[in-house]
Amino acid sequence: MTPDQLRQARVLVVGDVMLDRYWFSSVDRISPEAPVPVALVQREQDRLGGAANVALNAAALGAQTTLLSVVGADDAGRRLATLLADTPVRSALRQVPGLRTTLKLRVVARQQQLIRMDFEAVPQREVLLDLMDRYEQELGFHDVVVLSDYGKGGLDHVARMVQRARELGRKVLIDPKGRDYSRYRGATLITPNRAEFALVAGDWRDDTELEARAQALRTELDAQALLVTRADEGMSLFTAAGHLHVAAQAKEVFDVSGAGDTVIATLAAMLGAGESLEQAVRTANRAAGIVVGKLGTASVDPAELWPAGA
Ligand SMILES: Nc1ncnc2c1ncn2[C@@H]1O[C@H](COP(=O)(O)OP(=O)(O)OP(=O)(O)O)[C@@H](O)[C@H]1O
Ligand SMILES: [Mg+2]
Repeated sequence: MTPDQLRQARVLVVGDVMLDRYWFSSVDRISPEAPVPVALVQREQDRLGGAANVALNAAALGAQTTLLSVVGADDAGRRLATLLADTPVRSALRQVPGLRTTLKLRVVARQQQLIRMDFEAVPQREVLLDLMDRYEQELGFHDVVVLSDYGKGGLDHVARMVQRARELGRKVLIDPKGRDYSRYRGATLITPNRAEFALVAGDWRDDTELEARAQALRTELDAQALLVTRADEGMSLFTAAGHLHVAAQAKEVFDVSGAGDTVIATLAAMLGAGESLEQAVRTANRAAGIVVGKLGTASVDPAELWPAGA
């Protein structure tokens, strides 16, 4: 895979967008008001989260990437728009008055989270229905669709999105949530992590049982492939042709959050560039191994994946 080929990939990311906010603080005393620490906030950092992080990861690999979603017309929504403007991602974010943007606020002291506070609200169905028109238009320009479901309600019409994309011959990759995957029926590839997979398919004792459960779910959903990401155990791909297991590759592990976003974004970029599914999975596993070794930045670029001379 060359950077030029990756730049040919056109990836449409749709789903729940969120702002990851960090308040780095110092703690030197206990509050006189209640037995809790007092955090003196010294620095704020905002990062693109959820579907926006997926889009950022696809764009970092060179893919032409569009992000379609709704946020609120509030501070966090404007901040997301500003952050996106600094990236190569083409933003199709709609700021909706009255909607609260999903925000995860972490108060961090001495490299530890003191607390995480979540702000979120489910977008109204009408707003999301409006988004469908734009979705239809965007389908025309993209080869691969990523539906990034964080369970925040932004993918109310996911079944129709999958169906429309498949009718037009687009590949549809889904990062799933919840107990019922029937709305993902017909997808090209679904990428649950271990806990997500166990929630829909049940626990497994060994790889044989995992494979049986994965193939049963894949067939039931009429999906071309199912990829179970297994954190430090790597990932397992299940298709009609059988299964492929790839061991985890990380040299050092600093920050595993967002690794799943890197996985699905890399798969999308690789498939959009014409790569085979197996090869895309191997590359996604390497990309995840690199990103978990990073603090702060949450994406991987082609030079890291294919060092010159390697
Ligand atoms: N501790 C780890 N050591 C090595 N590789 C890891 C580790 N954690 C994650 N990875 C890599 O990242 C991939 C995705 O991780 P995981 O299965 O935890 O997804 P996830 O739970 O969706 O991640 P997140 O939701 O935090 O983005 C794994 O398949 C593996 O390649
Ligand atoms: Mg995940």
